[in-house]
Amino acid sequence: MKEKQLLFTELKIGSRTAVNRIALNSMECNDADSEGNPSELTYKRYRKAFEGNAGVIFIEAISVLDESRGRLNQLIGTTANQKALTDFIKEMKKVNKKPLLLIQLTHSGELSDPVFSRRICVKPLPGLGGDLITEEEVETIIDKFVLSAKVAHDSGADGVDVKLCHGYLGSQFLRPYNDRKWKYGGPWKNRARFAYEIYERISREINDPDFIVGSKISVWEGFPGGMGTAGPDTPVMDLAEPLDLVKGLEERGGKYILQSAGSPSITLALTQPDRNIPDYAYLHMTFQKAVKKAVKPETAVIGSAYTIFRNGNNKFLAVNRRESSLVYWGNKNIRDGVCDMIAIGRQSLADSLLPAKLEAGREDEIHWCTACDNCVEFLIRQRPVGCATYYKEYASELKEIRRKEGLLKEKHT
Ligand SMILES: Cc1cc2nc3c(=O)[nH]c(=O)nc-3n(C[C@H](O)[C@H](O)[C@H](O)COP(=O)(O)O)c2cc1C
Ligand code: SF4
Repeated sequence: MKEKQLLFTELKIGSRTAVNRIALNSMECNDADSEGNPSELTYKRYRKAFEGNAGVIFIEAISVLDESRGRLNQLIGTTANQKALTDFIKEMKKVNKKPLLLIQLTHSGELSDPVFSRRICVKPLPGLGGDLITEEEVETIIDKFVLSAKVAHDSGADGVDVKLCHGYLGSQFLRPYNDRKWKYGGPWKNRARFAYEIYERISREINDPDFIVGSKISVWEGFPGGMGTAGPDTPVMDLAEPLDLVKGLEERGGKYILQSAGSPSITLALTQPDRNIPDYAYLHMTFQKAVKKAVKPETAVIGSAYTIFRNGNNKFLAVNRRESSLVYWGNKNIRDGVCDMIAIGRQSLADSLLPAKLEAGREDEIHWCTACDNCVEFLIRQRPVGCATYYKEYASELKEIRRKEGLLKEKHT
């Protein structure tokens, strides 16, 4: 029980308080209705998530527009969706009003699926590409981010996460690879402009001191020219720009940084550490500590990639099982000033009741994620996503898909 204490202390995020230090990370599950509104499946997932009593619940990546989307049945956050979003948030707050509800806002950019939407890019990346966007188009996209933030605010959300990670549009601007000579590329000042303009406008136009704004960032994307590299053609790590970014976001009203790494369409195992080679999880901790050192003490630093530690039953070597669990590392990292809060991704699909079960001393009842990544397969195949290990309906669905379509050839989102 002693081990759990720090995870179950309150945390200030801006003017608000998270009741504990476990967050549910954004997990897009591609099960919205044809208008991009939450469906019955979406409601079912999140009702359960709210019952779990996490300190913060990051609602999955919601697209700020219909035109360019990564997922066929992605949630959308335009004014047309405001009524549905309001009903959804009201229902979740009815289930449990304690968790802070933050909505992740995104534009998929070069990860938009050209089969059903328009793929656009900042600078074509080998294997992805897309229409090169103009400065005028960027201005329209910034408008849409601000409008979606207002929709989220007016629908009753406690805040928004402006997505700057995982290779989606927000992160494409930031990369050294974006050496295109334009208003939003080349020198760091230009590459950070997109993110900074969104923050400045949200702060000016929403102007609600209780509305939380922050971002999930990939500190190092792990491929040549990716975020956190030393130049457009090298993978060599250089954290000067990501650390400048977190300070710049903070200066513009950012209240937290949700640390992540990698770009799942390129470096999937870096974003979500693999069960056979789990060690990237340690790199995430290193990034959390670097971010924590860069920001002011009042800016909350939330760490990702804790799922892989499970209850200590994992493949990490040279450690005692008791000192290699999610709970152990969460408490230790908070105590050591590595991060202020931990976020669970895949673990939240396997069992979103984890915070409540832990707090009640029912650790034995937790369904620990096996990091089999079968949930990612649903995402890759553009199907509604769920845990195929602990939910029978998703297990049989996956079996049926594989029978009809064969095994996956490549594992990239
Ligand atoms: C099915 C699936 C959906 C995801 N959706 C999102 C998303 O909407 N936004 C996001 O920032 N990350 C998304 N992620 C990444 C997770 O939030 C998280 O960063 C990653 O899985 C690492 O954490 P974990 O090791 O706890 O799973 C997704 C991951 C998976 C497997
Ligand atoms: S399908 Fe596998 S990786 Fe995904 S949540 Fe379930 S156990 Fe975890």
